Amino acid sequence: MYSTSAKAKRRTVRVRHRVLAFGMLATLALGTGGGSARDGESADGNAGITLTSAERAGTGQLPYLDPSLPVGERVDDLMKRMSLDDKLGQMTQPERRYIKPAEITEHRIGSVLSSGGSAPKPNTAENWADMYDELQKAALAGPLRVPLMYGVDAVHGHNNVVGATIFPHNIGLGATRDPGLVREIGAATAAEMTATGVDWNFAPCVCVVRNDRWGRTYESFGEVPGLPSAMTTMIDGLQGAKLGAGPTSVLATAKHYLGDGGTQGGDDRGDARIPEARLREIHLPPFRAAVRRGVGSVMVSYSSWNGVKLHEHRYLITEVLKGELGFTGFVVSDYNGVDQIDGEPGFTRAEVAKAINAGIDMVMVPEEWKKFIRYLGEEVRAGNVPMSRIDDANRRILTKKFELGLFEDPMADRSYLKSVGGADHRVLARRAVAKSQVLLKNSKNVLPLGAAADKIFVAGRGADDIGRQSGGWTVTWQGEPGDITPGTTILEGVREVAGPSVKVDYGRDGKGIDDSYDAAIAVVGEDPYAEYHGDRTGGLGLDDVDLRTIERLQAADVPVIVVLVSGRPLDVAQRLSGWDALVASWLPGTEGAGVADVLFGKVAPTGRLPVTWMSDAGQQPINRGDGEKPLFPFGYGLTYN
Ligand code: GLC
Repeated sequence: MYSTSAKAKRRTVRVRHRVLAFGMLATLALGTGGGSARDGESADGNAGITLTSAERAGTGQLPYLDPSLPVGERVDDLMKRMSLDDKLGQMTQPERRYIKPAEITEHRIGSVLSSGGSAPKPNTAENWADMYDELQKAALAGPLRVPLMYGVDAVHGHNNVVGATIFPHNIGLGATRDPGLVREIGAATAAEMTATGVDWNFAPCVCVVRNDRWGRTYESFGEVPGLPSAMTTMIDGLQGAKLGAGPTSVLATAKHYLGDGGTQGGDDRGDARIPEARLREIHLPPFRAAVRRGVGSVMVSYSSWNGVKLHEHRYLITEVLKGELGFTGFVVSDYNGVDQIDGEPGFTRAEVAKAINAGIDMVMVPEEWKKFIRYLGEEVRAGNVPMSRIDDANRRILTKKFELGLFEDPMADRSYLKSVGGADHRVLARRAVAKSQVLLKNSKNVLPLGAAADKIFVAGRGADDIGRQSGGWTVTWQGEPGDITPGTTILEGVREVAGPSVKVDYGRDGKGIDDSYDAAIAVVGEDPYAEYHGDRTGGLGLDDVDLRTIERLQAADVPVIVVLVSGRPLDVAQRLSGWDALVASWLPGTEGAGVADVLFGKVAPTGRLPVTWMSDAGQQPINRGDGEKPLFPFGYGLTYN
């Protein structure tokens, strides 16, 4: 079993390292390296591994394994010892369902990911840690003992893990206008990830949403570059002041580069048809901010710019991101992103060469990873991909692994398991939920619900549903309604904050309401979705079920407070006059009591719109400064008198 304390763990790991390193030296010296028969096939003139006499004697520690040496020296030393196969493996990221531990060892795989919802069974933090450790041990069993990085989309908490704290999605965090809060959320997320070993987060999304029809609107902090730029504090929270600085530092990823939020019609993975000046003005600043904060990786967008796929865009990836912005981390493709370059299913040698030559350093190739390694090796041997590009990619990847401290502390730190879904993090999340609420209407000051209200009726599909209030990327990729993970629903929050003296009744469809109630709260909005599944090309209004629920409440002639649980503004202008109050709750996550804190005035609403609120769907795209007349402008938000 693994040690529990970090210190004891380090000692165990260090002892194991020495044994491993010594063992490896012995085997290498005897030429019976743990690698595959292909070791001698290196095409980069590096036939196998050379050792100094001290190393051969097993007395000297291999330089790259010596944490006292500068990272650059360790990278140089390790690179000298790597064959082409070693280097190709480092650039390959399979999905966990499609690779066995022994294959990680054999193919020297540098990284593995969990796609949205891809979890061990049972889906518990402990089981995640067991899974991670098993895969990491397989990587460490490779000839050069290079640890792997494990990547997930922990985009609003460690959201693939049942029991983790689920924070508001980015659109709600944008409404808080609080970069410091976002940094705290990043740090809490990193701690919960560290408990499970997972050391790479495909977050934050720093996209600038320009059309609310886009299914990823809620992954954006806002429609102007200044908001996502300010919220790159998420990177500091995840990585720490410096990558690897603290015990819970994980690698952050700025995504999706570049212009994913600016596509025609808000079409996910579509085409951003805008001049370069506009691309630079609107979409580039958050990446500049992320690079300045030392973000360790950048993920390329599926989308295109003026008809050219970002995954083959050498100018934007190499010249702008790596050159002009000075990004020294590594660039990772999106999931099967290379396949989409030519618009045909699957990937070809030509697509592989285009993507790597464009500046992509690691390829997220979930299933066909063996084919990817083969194709890339062939393209290198054919001279279509220069060895210098392979070396640059490896240098970037290995630098982050050394900086992360993975060579010294590669295993899950189970001392943080108690932080997963822990009270402190839930308190933080509840605070974030309250700060993210935007009060859009409050006629006759019906809010806050105060002492006068001793009978309240709650209705709506979103009122008592953790899945709905969390949205996509929660336990599963798309998210789903229902009791999917521990938390507090908005209804439970109302009951808690109202207190025992207030009678709170719930009728999901509004039936049972009458005029004896002091107020009615309708929690309505959208079902969970992610990515293109959330693209809405037609209407952007509430569906009939929600509208009928609200109408039932209105018929009872009591004040009606509408709470919208949605990933974007909805088209409600035609209905608004019949509602007494309106609160944009966005996708609050597991701590629904934060909504009640605002409804009952425990916390005054301070949230401000991170996106312009349309007067009708026909206005999309509608953004600050474009001259259109919205229902509520960017930055709008009421508070209590
Ligand atoms: C998805 C998303 C990306 C995510 C990746 C891995 O398709 O576009 O945001 O990080 O695949 O799950």
